[in-house]
Formats: sequence, C-alpha cells, structure tokens
Amino acid sequence: MSGNLFGSAFRVMTFGESHGPYIGLVIDGIRPGLEIDAEFVQEQLNRRRPGQSDIVTTRKEEDRAEIISGIFEGRTTGTPLCILIRNQDQRSRDYSHLQHILRPGHASFTFLKKYGVFDFRGGGRASGRETATRVAAGAVARQLLKDKNIEIFAHTKQIGDIIATETDLKQIERNPVRAADAKAAEEMIRAIRNARDEGDSLGGIVEIIVKNCPAGLGEPVFDKLEADLAKALLSIGAVKSFEMGNGFDAAVMKGSEFNDLFYYNRENLKFSTRTNRAGGVLGGISNGEDLVMRIAVKPPSSIGKSQKTVTDEGKEVVLDIGGRHDPCICPRVVPVAEAMVALVLTDHLLMQERITSGAKLQNVRSQIDTIDGQLMLLLAQRQIMTRKIAAIKKQEGLSIVDEKRESDKKVQMLRFAEELELSEDLITNLFDIILRHSHSIQKDSML
Ligand SMILES: Cc1cc2nc3c(=O)[nH]c(=O)nc-3n(C[C@H](O)[C@H](O)[C@H](O)COP(=O)(O)O)c2cc1C
Repeated sequence: MSGNLFGSAFRVMTFGESHGPYIGLVIDGIRPGLEIDAEFVQEQLNRRRPGQSDIVTTRKEEDRAEIISGIFEGRTTGTPLCILIRNQDQRSRDYSHLQHILRPGHASFTFLKKYGVFDFRGGGRASGRETATRVAAGAVARQLLKDKNIEIFAHTKQIGDIIATETDLKQIERNPVRAADAKAAEEMIRAIRNARDEGDSLGGIVEIIVKNCPAGLGEPVFDKLEADLAKALLSIGAVKSFEMGNGFDAAVMKGSEFNDLFYYNRENLKFSTRTNRAGGVLGGISNGEDLVMRIAVKPPSSIGKSQKTVTDEGKEVVLDIGGRHDPCICPRVVPVAEAMVALVLTDHLLMQERITSGAKLQNVRSQIDTIDGQLMLLLAQRQIMTRKIAAIKKQEGLSIVDEKRESDKKVQMLRFAEELELSEDLITNLFDIILRHSHSIQKDSML
C-alpha cells in the first residue's frame, strides 16, 4: 500500500490499523530545537478521542501519545520524530460476522478489489481511527505555526438541515457537536440523538478558518495552496467535497459580485480586500486574508438499521452491523480538519522560507559583487598611480624602496584598520601584497 506519506518539506508518514496493537506516525523534516509541548499534543488527541459524549462512538480509547524518538529534553533533535498511540479497546469479535459481507458505504469492497485482502476488523486503514495519527502530527506542526501567530479553527457549520448562523469561535469547545453557534448546537445534538435512536446517521459541513495566514504561501501551478488544502481535507475518511471562500456559489455570481476589492489598510499598513469571497487565496497563493474553507462530511455508513447487501460470493444477505460507531462524524472531524490544514500550512511555510532565504542570500551576494567591483576599480587606479610614481623616481634618480615611508604608512594603515574593526592580519597581508606588486611595477618601469 502506498500513499501513507504526506507533504514535501514537512513530511509525515502514518501507519497502523484500527485493530492492531499500535497506530503511529513519523515526521521527517522537522527543525532541531523546537520545543514540543506534549500536553498540547495530548489535548488535541483528546478532542478527537472516541467516547467523549453520547453523540459519538462509545469505543473507549485513551489515545495516549508516546513520543519515542526525535526529542531530547523536550526539544526536537532534528531526527525523525516518532509518535505511537496504543489501541486499547478493540473488540475484533464484534466484526467477525462481517468477514465476507460487502458493507454498504464502506471501503471493504474497494480494498478487496485492489489488494485481494482486507482487515475487516473495524475498517483497518480505512477506519476513522487512522485520523488520530494525523491529529498528533498536526499538533506538532501547530507548534511551528504558533511562532508565526497562525491560528486554525474548525467548527461544525451544518448537521443535516440545521445550519449554524453565528460564528462565535469561543462556543466551539463548549458544546459536544463543536458548533460556533450555541443555539444551533442544541438543535444539532437533538438531531444526532434522534438519528442514532432510529438506527441511522447524519452528515454535515465543517468550516475551517485560518487567522493570520501570511501572504505568499502556495506554489502557483500544481501545488496551489487551495489544491493542497483540498487534497489534505478530502483525504479524511467520509469527506466528500471541499470549497474555498464562496466555493460552489461562485457559479451563480457575476465578476462584479465575486471580485474582492483591494484597499490599503492604514492601521496595519497592509493591502487588504473589502470582502473575502476568494477565501484567502489568489492564483494558488495566500493573499493575507483569512483562509476560509468548508468540507461536506457524509453520514457514517455503519448504521443500526438493517441493510440489504451481498457476500463476496454474491449471496444476498441482510446486514446488521453491530459494533460501536459514530452517529455523526462532524464533531470528531473538527480536530482532524484543523490538523490537516496545519500540516499543509507548515509544509508551505517551510517551502516559502527556502525561497525567501534564497532571495536574501542572492540580495546580499549582489551587494558583495558591487563592492568587489569597486575594489577592482580602486586597484586599477592604484596601479596607474604606481606607474606615475615610478616615472618620477626614474626621472629624479630616486630608489624604488623608501623604508621609512613604508613603515609609517603601515602603522597608519593598521591604526585605521583598528578604527574600522578590520582584522590586523588581513590588512598586514593585503598591504604586503600591494607593496610587493608596487615594487615590481616600479622595477619594470626602471628598465
Ligand atoms: C473521526 C472519524 C470517525 C469515523 N467513524 C466512523 C464510524 O463510526 N462508522 C463508519 O461507518 N465510518 C466512520 N468513519 C468514516 C470512515 O472512515 C470512512 O467513511 C470509510 O472509510 C469510507 O471512506 P469514504 O467515506 O471516504 O469513501 C469515520 C471517519 C472519521 C474521520
């Protein structure tokens, strides 16, 4: 199986199955010296953990993150950072009756077609459990983003046909559905409970907002910021669509309605736009406005209701799934979506740093080149003067070497060098070379 590696500068490899002993991840490309707040990693995992409330699966997992490499005295060493999370509450027997059944809406059929084998216990790599590793990696990435003041918030915007109309970010962690609208949250919770009690499930929309994203992230052709964000978010199980800014509504707008008009903000001395219909990206590159994206999350496939299906031998059967499942995935997708966005932004920040540090070096190098050119011109002028002196000395019968002048000049040069904080060695050697060269020019002229 390939495709377990994500990112190009900040690369994350995840591994493990929902019903194996561990799941885990390795981060490659992390800079040394980054202080890792292990409690923050754990807090993020707790937000995704099953069993947090009655509107998510009752599977009990502690999701304890064990950092087993790449860290010394709380800081990264720059070597691969590996985090393991132990699976504790597997009940593989819950799944034994599913071994030969094609589960509607599940990955079992396509895995079987592709690999000829499928770990039917809890969905294996296709299980929502896999996303714990993304959250842990995202929590590490967010510690890098914190240095840049970049903040990521996701919230449940819609469940079924209930839409949050307020966006009060403080509300998100105050209700189990993670809506930014306290009133809508209550209705959403009721709707999820009803669906669960009817043996059914519900889908919804999660919105992700990034504050303080600097302008300039994203590569303008294949690695556009929005293309990478879309891939990151669509790679989460059960996410079926992605939009940025006004997204699909753009199809029914005119250019004059869609365009975000620029202005110069005199308070923070920055260019800004009066609206943000583009969602913070132009030409695949962040424009300094908030990034705003939404993803549609399908209703989970594992439902209490009986479903007609077939076995892998084509025999018709009625499926009663059993096991412990989420009646709605949105509340748990919120921290996963934030983590995936954090991974993309960290990756693009590192790529951008390579460009700007290259640009800085190029800039300083071109200044040095100018100085070196001026030095050459001065040396050429000095050579012309030396020839003039040689002609005068020849005419007046004076000797080439004037020891007193040379030693006085050396003292004067070294004093000057000290004032300018120039190395004594450099000036002594340079002066000796210039004098030797001057003597040889004068000797040649005397012939
Ligand atoms: C956090 C999380 C929890 C999930 N829990 C369940 C679940 O309890 N039952 C279920 O059928 N699918 C669940 N899923 C969805 C499956 O992982 C996913 O739908 C399935 O692998 C099929 O993939 P697809 O919907 O992307 O085609 C969950 C996904 C996430 C991200």
